[in-house]
Amino acid sequence: MADRVEGVDPADFRSALARFPSGVTIVTTRSEAGTLHGFTASSFAALSLDPPLVLVCLDRGADCYPVFMAAERFVVNIVTPAHAELAMKFATKGENKFAHGRFAFDDERHPLLPDAAAVLHCELRQAVPGGDHVILIGRVHEARTGGGEPVTWYRGDFLHLGERAA
Ligand SMILES: Cc1cc2nc3c(=O)[nH]c(=O)nc-3n(C[C@H](O)[C@H](O)[C@H](O)COP(=O)(O)O)c2cc1C
Repeated sequence: MADRVEGVDPADFRSALARFPSGVTIVTTRSEAGTLHGFTASSFAALSLDPPLVLVCLDRGADCYPVFMAAERFVVNIVTPAHAELAMKFATKGENKFAHGRFAFDDERHPLLPDAAAVLHCELRQAVPGGDHVILIGRVHEARTGGGEPVTWYRGDFLHLGERAA
């Protein structure tokens, strides 16, 4: 029973969550010192239309956690199948993440993926504690869509979207 978290078997919990298909994002920011940081996140969600708010959950154990907590802004890149390998780099601790992928920079010099399915430029409004994660709430200042279809994450692997139903 010691391995159960509040009565839920952790393996069952993970397995149930894996049945929920999600999009994949690469969330980036720039520290005050000018270093670039980012992580892959499937926990992205729309929160509010007016004001325009989105959320993403960040593991408090992530190396980039202190930087995001101190950040004024961050960028959410909704990625395509062409970014699958890059998304795995951004999910790897200790990786020299920005050595991979072709990033451009916005006016605030935050990194973005010009060929992403969509790019949302956010101002960090709130960081709400949520268990071992923190919910980063961002006020969207600019939203841009690209040509590519987004890739999805399902049962621990990438799943490419098929043809859209008519
Ligand atoms: C598809 C996928 C989705 C992920 N989603 C999240 C997420 O929503 N939040 C999170 O904190 N980590 C998520 N991760 C794990 C982080 O990307 C990974 O732990 C990353 O290395 C953390 O940043 P760090 O290198 O600064 O520690 C995900 C990983 C993958 C492969």
